[in-house]
Amino acid sequence: DALYDFVVVSNRLPVDRVVAPDGTESWKQSPGGLVTALEPIMRSNDGAWVGWGGQPDLAIDPFDNDGIHIVPVPLSEDDIEKYYEGFSNDTLWPLYHDVIAPPTYHREWWESYVAVNQRFADAAAAVSAEGAVVWVQDYQLQLVPKMLRDKRPDLTIGFFNHIPFPPYGIYSQLPWRAAIIEGLLGADVIGFQRVADASNFARAVRRLTTSSTKTTTIEVATPGQPPRRVIAKAFPISIDSRSFEELARQPHIQARAKEIREGLGNPKTIMLGVDRLDYTKGIGHRLKAFGELLADGRIEVEDVTLVQVASPSRERVQAYMDLRDEIELTVGRINGDFATMSHTAISYHHHGYPREEMAALYLAADIMLVTALRDGMNLVAKEYVAARFDDDGILVLSEFAGASDELKRALRINPHDIDGLKETILQAISMSKRDRSARMRSMRKRVLEYDVARWSTSFLTTLASVHDHRESVQ
Ligand code: G6P
Repeated sequence: DALYDFVVVSNRLPVDRVVAPDGTESWKQSPGGLVTALEPIMRSNDGAWVGWGGQPDLAIDPFDNDGIHIVPVPLSEDDIEKYYEGFSNDTLWPLYHDVIAPPTYHREWWESYVAVNQRFADAAAAVSAEGAVVWVQDYQLQLVPKMLRDKRPDLTIGFFNHIPFPPYGIYSQLPWRAAIIEGLLGADVIGFQRVADASNFARAVRRLTTSSTKTTTIEVATPGQPPRRVIAKAFPISIDSRSFEELARQPHIQARAKEIREGLGNPKTIMLGVDRLDYTKGIGHRLKAFGELLADGRIEVEDVTLVQVASPSRERVQAYMDLRDEIELTVGRINGDFATMSHTAISYHHHGYPREEMAALYLAADIMLVTALRDGMNLVAKEYVAARFDDDGILVLSEFAGASDELKRALRINPHDIDGLKETILQAISMSKRDRSARMRSMRKRVLEYDVARWSTSFLTTLASVHDHRESVQ
C-alpha cells in the first residue's frame, strides 16, 4: 500500500457518501468551514486525507478522489452516538463555546472518544511514510497527536483547533481536562484561531501540567527525557478568497443575484444571515432585533427583507432539535405578524446551498448579519467580503467571532445587546455609499491578502521550523 508524506486527519472526510433512495451511491462535498479551507491545499500537495465518510458502518477501501487519496475510518452507530454526537458535540462543543448550552458529561462518551481517537491515530500511522507531516484537525480529535507520537516518533505532527479554546474557569469543568491537554501536547505545533484562544490554552497547560510556557513556546517536561519544544499560537484561518471573488464576478452569478432581488419583490434593503443551524450563531438574537424593529415601526416590511439560510446540522442532538423549534416558531411569528400578501418579512431556508447560489446571495444582500455568540472564526463573514468585488455591502459582525480580530471596518456588535444591534442595523440601512465602499475596500484588502493558502503556508512553515530545531538538538 502507498505511503504519503503529507497526511490530514479530520473527523469528516472532505466528501460524504450519499445513498439515494434507489440505492445509487455518490460522494458530495461535506458541510462546514474545515473542508472549504483544506481542500485546495490537499489538491496541490498530493496528500492523503483520513476521516469519516458521514454514514454509519461505512467500511470501504481507500480511493482517489479529485487528486486526494481518501482513507475512510468507519464509525458504528454506537460511535456516532457517543463519540460524535455525544462527547464531540454535546460535551466539547458547548464547553468550548462558553457554555452557551449546558455541556453533558458522560463517562461512556469519554471512553468512546478515547477509542475512536485511537482508531484515527492508527489509520493515520498506517498511511504515513517515514518522517511524514501529519496535520490533525479540530476538537473531535484532540487525543490523536499524543497517540500518534507514541506510535510514530518519526512524524512531524501539527494540530489546528478550528473552534475557540475556552478560558480556564470554563475549561476546568471538564473531568478529562488533563488528558486532553496531554493529547494536544503530542503535537509539535498547536494552532488556534485567535490570540486569546492560544493564551487560554497556555494557561490550561500551566495549571494542569509541569510544562513551562513562554509566550508561544511550551517546554513539555517528560520524566527522564529532555524537554520537547511545542509552539502554540494563533493562525487565523481563511478562505480561497480569489476563487470566491472570481465566482461572484461571473455574469450568470450577477444575473442570479438580480433574480433573487426581484423574487423578493425588489425591497430597498436585503439583509442576509447564513449559518449552520447552531445555538452558537445567535440566530435568535438577530431575529429578535429584526422583529422589534418591525414592531416599533422603525422599518417597514415593504422596505426590508431578511433572508435567513440555516443549514441543517447535528439533527439528532437534543439542543439542536430544540433550537430548530425555537427558531422556526420565531420566524413563523414574525412573518405572521408583519408579512403582507406581497412581502414576506423573513425568507427562511432550512437547507444548504451550493457555492454558486451563495455567491449570488452575497451579491444580492445589502447587509450581512453575523451575530454569533461565540465562533472560532466565521468564514461566512470572509466569503461575503470576498464576493463583494463591487466594493459595496455592509458587514455587521459580532465581536465574539474570530473574524472580528481582522475585519476591523465591519460594524461591530455585541449580539447580547439587542438595542445596540437594532441601532447598528438602522445605521447600516442608512449608510452612505461612500462610507460603505471605504469600509468594504479595507476589509477586502485583508481577506484577499490573508487567504487560506497563506494560512496553511504559515502553519506548515512553522511546523517545518520546529521539526528542524528538533533535528538540530538531537
Ligand atoms: C465546524 C467544526 C467542523 C465541523 C463543522 C460541521 O465548522 O469546526 O469540525 O466539521 O462545524 O459540523 P459537523 O458536525 O457536521 O461536522
